[in-house]
Amino acid sequence: MNVQDTCAFIIHPIDPKKDVSRKWPLLGKVLTEGQINFFSRFFPPVYISEINGICSASTGKQLKGWFIACPYTPKTMLSLPVEMVYRKIVACGHKAEELGARLLGLGAYTSVVGDAGETIARRLDIPVTNGDAYTVYMALEAVREAARQMDIDMSSASAAVVGATGVIGSVCAEILAREVPDLVLVGRRADALAAVREQCEGHQAKITTSLDISDIYHCDLILTVTSATTSIIEPEHLKPGAVVCDVARPRDVSVRVAERRDDVLVIEGGMVEVPGLVDFGFDFGFPPGKSYACMAETMALALEGRYEDYSVGKHTPLSQVYEIGEIATRHGFKLSGFRSFERAVTDEHIQQVRERAQAARR
Ligand SMILES: NC(=O)c1ccc[n+]([C@@H]2O[C@H](COP(=O)([O-])OP(=O)(O)OC[C@H]3O[C@@H](n4cnc5c(N)ncnc54)[C@H](OP(=O)(O)O)[C@@H]3O)[C@@H](O)[C@H]2O)c1
Repeated sequence: MNVQDTCAFIIHPIDPKKDVSRKWPLLGKVLTEGQINFFSRFFPPVYISEINGICSASTGKQLKGWFIACPYTPKTMLSLPVEMVYRKIVACGHKAEELGARLLGLGAYTSVVGDAGETIARRLDIPVTNGDAYTVYMALEAVREAARQMDIDMSSASAAVVGATGVIGSVCAEILAREVPDLVLVGRRADALAAVREQCEGHQAKITTSLDISDIYHCDLILTVTSATTSIIEPEHLKPGAVVCDVARPRDVSVRVAERRDDVLVIEGGMVEVPGLVDFGFDFGFPPGKSYACMAETMALALEGRYEDYSVGKHTPLSQVYEIGEIATRHGFKLSGFRSFERAVTDEHIQQVRERAQAARR
C-alpha cells in the first residue's frame, strides 16, 4: 500500500446527545444538551478513528484516513466569536498533520463558519477542502434521480432552491437554471437574491426570487441548503408529490413533515458509495461503505493526488463542480440510494409516496 496517500476529515456533533453517545455512550446519556454545549467549549479536538480500505476503482490506489471531531455544535459555532471557532478548527487541523494526513476536509458547519475555509487553509501546513463542489454535484444527482423515480420530468418541472444565496445554494441554482423551465430562488436578502438571479439568467428557466418560504408550495422539486440551526420547511409548505432534497446539516426539513406528510418524498442530499471495502472505524449514522459528499470530495482528491487547497472560500466555480464530479466518478464514487430522516428510502416507500400523492391530488 502506498501509505503516502492520506487524508483527514473533521466532523462535529449536530444532535449533541445522540452524537456524543456515538463516541461516549455514558456521557451522552447523563449529560443534558445544555451541559454538552457548555463543556464542549473547553474540549480539545477529539481523535475519533482511523479510516481504512478506500481503494480507487481506476488505479487500485489505497487511501488511509482519520476522523477528528471538533467538539462544537452548530449553535456553539454560531454563538462564539469566529476567531475562537477558527482556533478550534485549526487545532483539529494540527492533529490531522500530526497523524500524517496530507489533505484536510472540513465537515458540515466547520465548512460554513467564517470565510468557508480560507483562514483555516492559511493557518495550516496541509491543504484544505470544504467539500462544497462535490456536495453540489451529488445534491443535483440526487435531485435528478429522485425526480426520475417519482416520474417528474425535469424538462417541465418547477424547482426551488432554498438558501439560494449561500455557497452551495447559489451554484445549485446556476445548474438547475439549465435543467428546469421554472426556478424559484428563496432567501432572506432581496439584494443577494437579485445577484444570484442575474448569475442564473440566460438559460431555460424563468427565474423568480422570494423571501417567503410559502412560495415553494407550487414546486415539484425543492433543493434546500440553508445554514439555519432550526428547521424551516414545514408540512404546509409542500404540495402532494413534491420531492425535497435536504442538503443542510442540521436539516432544513422539519421532522413534522415525516410525521404528517406521507405524500411527499424527502431525501438527504445524496449518500455516496465509497470505492473499496472501507472501514470508517466509527458509526457516524450512515450504512457501512457510504459517506457524505463532502467527505467523499476529500477522499477523491487524495486518490487523485491533488494535495492542494480545493473548495475553499465563499465561491465555488461551476468548472470545479464538473471537475470533482469527473474525478470522483473515475475513482468509483457514486450516488447510492437515498436516506430520509436517518432511514433508508426503499422502492416500496417511493411507490407509496407516489400513490398517496395521486390520491391527495384527486
Ligand atoms: N450534506 C453535505 O455533504 C454538506 C456539505 C457541506 C455543507 N453542508 C451543509 O450545507 C448548508 C449550507 O452550507 P453553505 O456552505 O452553502 O452555507 P452558507 O454559504 O453560509 O449559506 C447558507 C445559506 O442559508 C441561509 N440562511 C442562514 N440562516 C438562515 C435561516 N435562519 N433561515 C433561512 N435561511 C438561512 C443564508 O442566507 P443569507 O445569505 O441571507 O445569510 C444562505 O443563503 C449547511 O447546513 C452545511 O452544514 C452539507
